[in-house]
Amino acid sequence: MPNPELAPQIEHFYSQVIDEDGRLTTSADGRLELLRTQEILRRYLPTAPARVLDVGGGTGVHARWLVDDGYEVELIDPVARHVEQAAKVCPSALGDARNLTAPNGSYDVVQVLGPLYHLPDAKDRQMALSEARRVAKPGGLVAAAAINRYSSLFEHVTYAHLHTERLQTAVSKILSTAVHDGRGFTLAYFHRAEELAAEMHDAGFTDVEVFGVEGPAWSLLKAVEQSGGTPSEDMVASALTAARMAEPYPELLAASSHLLAVGRAPGDGA
Ligand SMILES: C[S@@+](CC[C@H](N)C(=O)[O-])C[C@H]1O[C@@H](n2cnc3c(N)ncnc32)[C@H](O)[C@@H]1O
Repeated sequence: MPNPELAPQIEHFYSQVIDEDGRLTTSADGRLELLRTQEILRRYLPTAPARVLDVGGGTGVHARWLVDDGYEVELIDPVARHVEQAAKVCPSALGDARNLTAPNGSYDVVQVLGPLYHLPDAKDRQMALSEARRVAKPGGLVAAAAINRYSSLFEHVTYAHLHTERLQTAVSKILSTAVHDGRGFTLAYFHRAEELAAEMHDAGFTDVEVFGVEGPAWSLLKAVEQSGGTPSEDMVASALTAARMAEPYPELLAASSHLLAVGRAPGDGA
């Protein structure tokens, strides 16, 4: 069943252009994103077993380790190809973050790791966060990921083509408008950290914190791979250490490729 609300370029991108299943496992910066997302979430997750809804969970890359950790995970995603792959990991269904079918207060944890960056309209992002809040139990954990506003600047300089007019124009447009809708990726919104925190607060979450996922050295790993090399174990370990060391310094949030917000659904379930 196609989802009428998904922008066709997003459907096309995930169905036919890239294989999302390998994004967090095949490249060094992808593995850094996966490892850091795991370590940050594990600080906040309730003791297993607990019910987790993975909204926009893609092919189930995060669902897999959560199931291994003993959680009861359900996944929804609007892309049929993703749902088919994720169904091998946990119960999975087509769905949209803005319109969840679960009853109020159903889950101990709701994670929204992807949808916010494909919803360029602020009203859509609020709908997605409000739905996450609605289906979370009072006091439940809600985690939401965003792509950093500045990540395309860091990424394209590692490819050593930022000086070309086409890329300069494309990256400048993302920096000034926060929206990308062209070659290389698909329709996407790029957050500033303060903006992500404000959106979490606006949706009614308490105890909101925002983390830089990959820290300041992810683009160095990308640069090595881009030039045909493999980052050394020391380089990967150093990048991971840098991400951890950067955590206490909010001004360094802008250096990560992704941002991860955590918050709690209000205690009264309102
Ligand atoms: C980059 S992938 C992230 C997948 C996975 N959650 C992760 O963190 O690796 C973005 C995901 O968001 C999904 N998505 C895009 N728009 C969405 C929407 N409106 N509601 C729910 N999911 C959406 C896409 O289908 C895709 O699976």
